[in-house]
Amino acid sequence: MRIGPYSLANQLFVAPMAGVTDRPFRKLCKQLGAGYAVSEMVTSRPDLWDSLKTSRRANHEGEDAPIAVQIAGTDATMMADAARYNIDRGAQIIDINMGCPAKKVCNKWAGSALMQDEALALQIVQAVVAACSPRGVPVTLKMRTGWAARAKNAPAIALAAESAGVAMLTIHGRTREQGYKGQAEHDTVAHIKSRVSIPVVANGDINSPQAARDVLARTGADAVMVGRAAQGRPWIFREMAHFLATGTELAPPTRSELKTWMLAHLHEHYDLYGEHTGVRSARKHLGWYVQSFGAGGLGEAFRHRINGATTCDAQLTAVTDLFDDWSEAPATDHSPWKMAA
Ligand SMILES: Cc1cc2nc3c(=O)[nH]c(=O)nc-3n(C[C@H](O)[C@H](O)[C@H](O)COP(=O)(O)O)c2cc1C
Repeated sequence: MRIGPYSLANQLFVAPMAGVTDRPFRKLCKQLGAGYAVSEMVTSRPDLWDSLKTSRRANHEGEDAPIAVQIAGTDATMMADAARYNIDRGAQIIDINMGCPAKKVCNKWAGSALMQDEALALQIVQAVVAACSPRGVPVTLKMRTGWAARAKNAPAIALAAESAGVAMLTIHGRTREQGYKGQAEHDTVAHIKSRVSIPVVANGDINSPQAARDVLARTGADAVMVGRAAQGRPWIFREMAHFLATGTELAPPTRSELKTWMLAHLHEHYDLYGEHTGVRSARKHLGWYVQSFGAGGLGEAFRHRINGATTCDAQLTAVTDLFDDWSEAPATDHSPWKMAA
C-alpha cells in the first residue's frame, strides 16, 4: 500500500476524528497496528492558525512518517495556503476533507457540503494539488458517497479528483444527508475502485477483524479506515492485522497490557494538553476504554471517579486502582471478553 512516495506498513488506517485522533491517540493506534493515521481536520482560516486548538492539531512531535494532515475549508486559495502552511510544519501528505457533516463546517460550505458543488470541489482539489506537488507532497481526498441518496456523486468527483492529481481516495459509505444514521454501504466504494487506478480506501462501520476482511474482499479496496470502533480500543488494529494475516482471532490483550497502554496514553495526553485541559479531555478516552473492555461494575465506579478528578495524578491513580481492584474482583465482574490475566 503506497501513497505517493510513502509505502505504508499495512492496509489498516485510523480515521481522522476531531477531538479524538489527536497526536497521542494516533501514535497509540500506530503502535498497536494501524499502518496509517490522518490528523484531525485543521481549518483553512489563517486567523485561527495561532489558536491553541489549531496549534495542538498541527503538532506532530515524535510521530512516525508519513505525517498526514487533513484540511477543511471552502475557498480554493485559502485551502492552498493551508496546505503550504501545514507542509511548513511537517505535513508530508495533505488530505482534503469532503466528508464531515458537522453543521459548523457545512454552514460554511466545507466538509461534505462541498460535494453539492462539484465545480468548487474540483477547484479546491486543483488548487491544493498545485500547492503541494512542487513540494513533492501527495494530496488525498476523503468524502462521502454523495450529498443525498438521490445524489450519490462520489464516483464523478473521484474521477475528476484522479485526473486532477489526487493520490488516494477514502469513501465513507454514507451520504451527507444520513449523518451517521443507518448502515454504511460499500457498493459505491467497489464501483469507484473499478473506475480509478489510484488507491481507494473503504470507511464506515468497519468494527471487527471479520468486517475488515469482508469489506476488503467485497470492494477490492486497497485499505480500510476505522473510526469509532477504535475509540477506547486502539488494539483493534493489531487484531485486524492478525486476522487478515492468519484467518484466526488474536487473543484479547492482557490486563497488564491494557494498563500500560492507558497510562502511556494519559501521560502523552497530559503532555500535549497540560493539566487543566488534559484531565478534562482525557475523560472521554478513559470512559471508552472501560466500555470497550467491559470492566463491569468496576467501570461505572471508575467513570464516576475519573469524571470527578481534576488533577493528572488523580486520574492516573484511578487507572492504577482500577486494575488493582479488578484483579481482586469476583468473576462476574470480569470482562465479557474474558481478559487474559
Ligand atoms: C467524533 C468524530 C469526529 C470526526 N471528525 C472527522 C474529521 O475531522 N474529518 C473527517 O474527515 N471525518 C471525521 N469524522 C468521520 C470519520 O473519519 C469516519 O468517516 C466516520 O466516523 C465513519 O467511520 P466509522 O464508522 O469507522 O466511525 C469524525 C467522526 C467522529 C465520530
